[in-house]
Amino acid sequence: MEPSVEEEISVEDEAVDESIFKDCSKIAFYRRQKQQLFKKSTYQALLDSVTIGKDSTRFRIINEATKVPLLAEVFGIEGNIFRLKINEETPLKPRYEVPDVLTSKPNTVRLISCSGDAGSLVLADGKGDLKCHITANPFKVDLVSEQEVVISINSLGQLYFEHLQIPPLKQRATREKEDASVNTSQENLGLWEEKFRKFVDVKVNGPASIGLDFSLHGFEHLYGIPQHAESHQLKNTGDGDAYRLYNLDVYGYKIHNKMGIYGSIPYLLAHKLGRTFGIFWLNSSETLVEINTEPAGKDTVTQMGPVAAKQKDSSRTNVRWMSESGIIDVFLLTGPTPSDVFKQYSSLTGTQAMPPLFSLGYHQCRWNYEDEQDVKAVDAGFDKHDIPYDVMWLDIEHTEGKRYFTWDKKRFPNPKKMQALLQNKKRKLVVISDPHIKIDPDYSVYAKAKEQGFFVKNHEGGDFEGICWPGLSSYLDFTNPKVREWYSGLFTFSVYQGSTDILYIWNDMNEPSVFRGPEQTMPKNAIHHGNWEHRELHNIYGFYQQKATAEGLIQRSQGKERPFVLTRSFFAGSQNYGAVWTGDNKADWSYLKISIPMLLTLSITGISFSGSDVGGFVGNPSPELLVRWYQAGAYQPFFRGHASINTKRREPWLFGEQHTRLIREAIRQRYALLPYWYSLFYRAHVASEPIMRPLWVEFPDELETFGVEDEYMLGSALLVHPVTEPKVTLVDVFLPGSSEVWYDSKTFAPWEGACTVKIPVGLDTTPVFQRGGSIVPVKTTVGKSTGWMADALYGLRVALSTKGSAVGELYLDDGHSFQYLHQKQFLHRKFCFCSGVLSNSCADERGHYPSECVVEQIFVLGLKQQPSSVTTHSPDGKDQPVAFTYCATTATLSLEKLSLNIGTDWEVHVK
Ligand code: NOJ
Repeated sequence: MEPSVEEEISVEDEAVDESIFKDCSKIAFYRRQKQQLFKKSTYQALLDSVTIGKDSTRFRIINEATKVPLLAEVFGIEGNIFRLKINEETPLKPRYEVPDVLTSKPNTVRLISCSGDAGSLVLADGKGDLKCHITANPFKVDLVSEQEVVISINSLGQLYFEHLQIPPLKQRATREKEDASVNTSQENLGLWEEKFRKFVDVKVNGPASIGLDFSLHGFEHLYGIPQHAESHQLKNTGDGDAYRLYNLDVYGYKIHNKMGIYGSIPYLLAHKLGRTFGIFWLNSSETLVEINTEPAGKDTVTQMGPVAAKQKDSSRTNVRWMSESGIIDVFLLTGPTPSDVFKQYSSLTGTQAMPPLFSLGYHQCRWNYEDEQDVKAVDAGFDKHDIPYDVMWLDIEHTEGKRYFTWDKKRFPNPKKMQALLQNKKRKLVVISDPHIKIDPDYSVYAKAKEQGFFVKNHEGGDFEGICWPGLSSYLDFTNPKVREWYSGLFTFSVYQGSTDILYIWNDMNEPSVFRGPEQTMPKNAIHHGNWEHRELHNIYGFYQQKATAEGLIQRSQGKERPFVLTRSFFAGSQNYGAVWTGDNKADWSYLKISIPMLLTLSITGISFSGSDVGGFVGNPSPELLVRWYQAGAYQPFFRGHASINTKRREPWLFGEQHTRLIREAIRQRYALLPYWYSLFYRAHVASEPIMRPLWVEFPDELETFGVEDEYMLGSALLVHPVTEPKVTLVDVFLPGSSEVWYDSKTFAPWEGACTVKIPVGLDTTPVFQRGGSIVPVKTTVGKSTGWMADALYGLRVALSTKGSAVGELYLDDGHSFQYLHQKQFLHRKFCFCSGVLSNSCADERGHYPSECVVEQIFVLGLKQQPSSVTTHSPDGKDQPVAFTYCATTATLSLEKLSLNIGTDWEVHVK
C-alpha cells in the first residue's frame, strides 16, 4: 500500500535515503558521453563556410564520420566577454534555448578576422588583448592573451552533440516484443527510455545530450557551480564522479558530496595569479561537470590529431560540461580581475536586488508557529529579553490544509489583527507559498488555474498530478508568462485575503519537490508551456516562481515597494528576485562549518543575499552550537533561525540566562553593523561586488588565500572567522596581506598581515578583524527592530592603515521603496582619514535624501600618538574643539557626543 501523506511527512523527517537519488552511474547521458557513444570521430570546422556578421561570426562544424553539420556562432560581447553557441544546423525540431536569464540582449562588439592561415581563423574585438583562435581540424578554440593561451575549448576532443532523430518506432515495437533481458545494453544507453528504480522516463525526443571540454591553462583553483554541500574550492572529480546540477529536495543532505541539491548555477570561476576567468554554461537541463587538474610538468598526451603527441605542459585544469539536452551556449568571462569577472557575469544576468532594510535584520522562523497567540508570545519574548528582531515567519501549517493564500481559521482567525500587532512593533511577517496547488475544485486558486490550463501537463496531455504537503496536487507552470502574470496578481491585497503590506513571501519546495516522484521531483517528460519537456528546463523552474512572486509584491504596491522573497530553488539570475537559503541542514557542527563555503560559493556566483538555517533545521542543537550558530549567522547576509516541526522549541531565551545573553549579544552585533551591511548591499546592487567574499577575491595575488574557507571578508573591511567547533578556546586566524594591519574588533589589538595568529575565544567571542585602512559605519544604539533604528545615531570605526590613512562609505535611503532609483532619493557618503583629517564628503552627487541623522561617535584604531587637539570643521566655517579620550595601551582615540550631520560635508582634524 502507498504511504499516506502524513506518513510521507514523517518519512521526510528521517535521514536522507540516498538510494532515491541517482549517482552518475545511473544517469544515461553520462554513460553515453563517457563512452563517446555518438562521437565516432573528431569534429572539423569548415572555415570556408565562415560568415562574419554584425553580431556574430558563424561557421559550420562537421563530424567527420556522420557528416551531420553543426552551426557554431562566436560573439564578442561588451566588457571582454566571448560567447560560443553550437547548435544543430537543421535540427528536426527546435532545441531549447534558455530564455529570461539574460537580462537583456547582450551588446555585441564586432569581431574582426585578423590573419590566420588556411587552417585557422583568428577573431579579435579590436580592443581587448584577447584573441580567439579557431583551428579547423580537429576543431579547437583557443583564447590567447599576449601569446599565451588562457583557455582551450575542445582540445581534448570531447565536443559531443546528439542530433535529434526520428524515433525508431518500428525497431522499438519489435524490441518490446523481445525478451527484456536481451536488450540490457540498449536499455543501459537510455536512448528512448531510461529506467531508475520503479520509474521509466520515456523520451519522445530520444537522446539529445551535449558536452564540451575546456582546458584552463595554469589554473589550479576553481570555484562556483552551486549548489553542493561541498568545499568552496572545487575538487577534482574522480572516476565515475561529477558535480551534478539538478535541483532536488534532499532533506538533511549529506555534506562533502557532489550530488545536486536545491538550486543550480552553471557558472564556474577559475583563478590563478594574474587572472580570474569565468565559464557560464547557459543550460537548464540536468548538467554534470567533471574537473581534473593536471599538475605542472606532468606529461600530457594530446588526444587530438592523427598521431597522439606527447608534450610537456604547465599545470592546467580540464573542465568537462555535459547536459542532457538543449544547446551549447557558453559565455567566457575573461576577467582579468575577480571584480571584472563579477561585473561581466552581472552584465549578463543582473545584480543582487536591493533588499528592503528590514530583511537584513534577524528573522525568526519555525515549522510552525502554532497560532496567533503563539506569534504574539514569541514576539513579546523578544521584547522581554531585549533581543532585536524584524520578521516573524509562518510555515505551511498557517494555511487551510496547505492551500496557499489561505489561513487556517482556527489557528489564525484574524491575520490582519496579528499583522497590525507586528506592524505596531515595526516588524514584518513572512508566509510560505509553494508551487504545488492542492487538487480541490473548491479551492479558488486551484479552480482558476485549472480553468485556464495553468498547470504543468503530464506527457499524456492531462494536468500533471503529484503528491506534496496538501496531498494530491498540480503544479503551476511558472515557465508560462501568463501563469506568472496571474500568479503575481494573487498577491494583490484584495485578492490575498488577510494579507497586508507588512506580509512578504517564502517560496519553498520549488525544485519542484514531488513526493514519490523520480528522485522526489517531477518526471522529465512532464510538459510545459510551448510544449517543452520538463527535462529541458528543470533547473529553472524555481527561478520562475521567485520571479513571479517578486513581481507580484512589486505590483501590489503599484510599483512603489521593494519585494522580499526567499526561495529554496534557484538558477543563474535568481539574484534579481531576492534571497536564497541552503535548505534542510542539520543541527550539527559540521553543517555550521559547511555553511561558510556554501554561502561563499553562492556569493561569487551572483547570489549575495543568502544564509543557512541558524541552529540547523533537522534535530536539536546543543546550547553551545546554537550560540555559535547565532554568532556565525550574524555575519552572514540572510540571518534566520529556523527549525523543523518535530524539534524542540528553541527561541533564544530557552537555554538559560547565560545563553540568552550571548545570543542577544550576537544579534545586537548584527544590528549595530546594519549601516555597513546596507552599504554593502548597495555595492552588490550597483557594482556587482559580492558581500561575503572569499579571501582570494580580496587578495587575488596571494596564493595562501586561494584555499581558505573557514573565514572570509565581509565587504573589504571586515574579516570574520566564526567558531564552528565545540569547546574551542583558541582559534587559528589567518590574516592575509603582507602590508596589511588588522585590528581585533574586541581587544583592538593590531596584528600584522601575512601570518596566522592564535586568538583566544570564550563562548562570547566571534573573531572579527577590521582591516587597517577601512572606515566602517555603525549605529551606536540598537533598537527593537530596524524600523526603530531609522533615527539612531551613527558611529564611525576608523582603522588606520600602516600609513595612517583609511577610507569608507555609507549608503542610505528610505529603506523600502524604489525612490532611490526613480527619484534618486538616497545619500551616498564617502569618509576619508588622511594626514590627521577625517572628512565626510559626497560620493554621488545625483543622490539627495533628507536625513537628520548625526554621527555621534568616532573611534580611531591604530593612532600611534596622543593628539594635542581635536576640532570639527563644518562648511559654514564653524570650528569647534572636541573632547577626546586617548588610550596609549590600545592606541585608540575615542570621540563621543558629537553632533555631525551624516549628510553634510565636514572634517574632523586630529593634531
Ligand atoms: C522544507 C523547507 O526546506 C523547510 O524549511 C520548511 O520548514 C518545510 N519544507 C515545511 O514547509
